[in-house]
Amino acid sequence: ASILVLHGPNLNLLGTREPEVYGSTTLTEINQQLQSAASEAGHHLQCLQSNAEYELIDRIHLARPEGINFIIFNPAAFTHSSVALRDALLGVDIPFIEVHLSNVYTREPFRHHSYFSDIAQGVICGLGPQGYLLALQAALSRVQD
Ligand code: DQA
Repeated sequence: ASILVLHGPNLNLLGTREPEVYGSTTLTEINQQLQSAASEAGHHLQCLQSNAEYELIDRIHLARPEGINFIIFNPAAFTHSSVALRDALLGVDIPFIEVHLSNVYTREPFRHHSYFSDIAQGVICGLGPQGYLLALQAALSRVQD
């Protein structure tokens, strides 16, 4: 299968960004772990991080003609603001899992609402980088069914 991992704004700073909230693992390390887990299982995985909403939207649009089977998405701050990204996912109709490193429900109230959770296959939050690996496991078992 073909899996696309998308990371939203500021996640390029992982490792140094608010380490007490987000931990010390870098985005490169997370992507490498996902990459090796996917290729060990015989699947193809691509990653993109962007600070620009339109780049994430354009990447989601491309995913359909490209034959992407599943998306793993940490929309970061766009979680709480982006109708446009929600509409892009609805538009391509590709199943996705929403991931957050931090437990957003222990944080500010504005982080408690997501524009994605009600259209996601599932949501993982608060488990740090492991959340991405668990999402990958779930994605792979779903595309194989
Ligand atoms: C985040 C949680 C969001 O509220 C925040 O804006 C982020 C990261 C997380 O992974 O915990 O940038 O998505």
